[in-house]
Amino acid sequence: MPQSIERSTIRMIRDDQVPPGPVHVAGWVRTKRGSKKFSFVHLTDGSTPQTIQIIADAGLDGYAEMVAPLTTGASVKVWGQLVESPGQGQKYEIQAERVELCGLADPDSFPLQKKEMTYEYLREIAHLRPRTALFSSVFRVRSLVSFAIHEFFHKRGFQYVHSPILTTSDGEGAGETFTVTNFDLEKVPLQTSPGSGVDYSQDFFGQKSMLCVTGQLEAELLTFGLGNVYTFGPTFRAENSNTSRHLSEFWMVEPEMAFADLQETIDLGCALIKGVVRKVLEEAEADLEVIVKRNEVDPRPWLKMALEEDFKRISYTEAISILQDSGRSFEFPVAWGEDLKSEHERFLCEEHFKAPTVVYDYPRDLKAFYMYLNEDGKTVAACDFLVPGIGEIIGGSQREHRLDRLEQQLQAKGIDSEHMQWYLDTRRFGSVEHSGFGLGLDRLICWLTGMGNIRDVIPFPRVPGNCSF
Ligand code: 4AD
Ligand code: MG
Repeated sequence: MPQSIERSTIRMIRDDQVPPGPVHVAGWVRTKRGSKKFSFVHLTDGSTPQTIQIIADAGLDGYAEMVAPLTTGASVKVWGQLVESPGQGQKYEIQAERVELCGLADPDSFPLQKKEMTYEYLREIAHLRPRTALFSSVFRVRSLVSFAIHEFFHKRGFQYVHSPILTTSDGEGAGETFTVTNFDLEKVPLQTSPGSGVDYSQDFFGQKSMLCVTGQLEAELLTFGLGNVYTFGPTFRAENSNTSRHLSEFWMVEPEMAFADLQETIDLGCALIKGVVRKVLEEAEADLEVIVKRNEVDPRPWLKMALEEDFKRISYTEAISILQDSGRSFEFPVAWGEDLKSEHERFLCEEHFKAPTVVYDYPRDLKAFYMYLNEDGKTVAACDFLVPGIGEIIGGSQREHRLDRLEQQLQAKGIDSEHMQWYLDTRRFGSVEHSGFGLGLDRLICWLTGMGNIRDVIPFPRVPGNCSF
């Protein structure tokens, strides 16, 4: 068997891209069973949820050293013949002609055994869980969705821009930033006048710096030069929320459109979600099957509904009336001016509308400084997208593009505008209405897959008290 034959992935074989005949694959043993005469090895290589069966005859050269010791988790390279399989559930199998054992996985210490493990346990071994059928499927869906998002924007002529991760501005003005410093924390320099705090002018960047909570402000600058843009990157929030919906490091997609109002942003959000759902239903069927089998939560009915139905659109004021008239007793108060909590959001989309729901025009006091103040002087042109099972998945708005109003908002929110002059410049020179939103990728993946905890849709979750790996 020539060793020079190019390696095929199991996906290529499954997709009929590899003709029967000589073949070379490499991967990890999912299971092995056998008799004295043969071993049947199910091999996975991560390219697809499916495995390929390798049949190794005990008469094979090197069988005792290369095949007999294989157990779950071991890595191997295999050369052989791809033949049609008489077995059910697979079209092809490989009759091995040469097997090369790469690395053993001692069954006494390899933690991923056949028995079902809890999600909590698997989180503790997040360095190994990508090797399970479940997590490799979740992460493949994540990859597909990321690609689908880029494809969606690319087809619509949006430019992909990179907003900075290190920044000196709290883009949401909510004070949930992680400080970035190079100070020796044992000897932090203080300003000379007593009580005036840390002297950041001596720090690495010469001023107080942090990790971004959003790329929006920079995306706003870029849309004024490039037209429609989007960012897609990690964002960081130091909010102490220990929930199944919050991460300290999460991925956000933030489109920004010049010459566009709130409605256009809502339309874009609906189209994006529908586009991604379509892609997942078309291309991730086998992965969804694996995920659904483990979870017993099937997202497909609500995905199909999201594809077929128009998303419901209601104002915040209407949402409050619906909640007040619902006859429900909620844990948190329902009154105009109060924020919608998760229980309210979920009632609206899961029980009342039974569909993805967009709530717009929120009270100005509930939302960030950059949002467009509506004519009523009380509400801002904000929108939140709520989906069944999750709640808020998108937060967006039309931006306040009028310099005087924006300055008033900054003042009203107690934000020092001295450090925001670069942002205000957009409103000084060629200002125009513009709008955009932030889609939380991790929450989106939870919704698409039916995974119940956001810590299980990102390879290495960062949450309060945990930054392992
Ligand atoms: O609603 P948020 O805070 O909006 C913004 O950051 C705006 N600057 C976006 C924009 O208009 N460009 O966050 C947007 C989305 C939320 O709807 C949610 O899906 C996700 O980001 N998100 C989180 N996901 C995981 N963990 C957290 N701690 C999250 N905080 C927000
Ligand atoms: Mg929000």
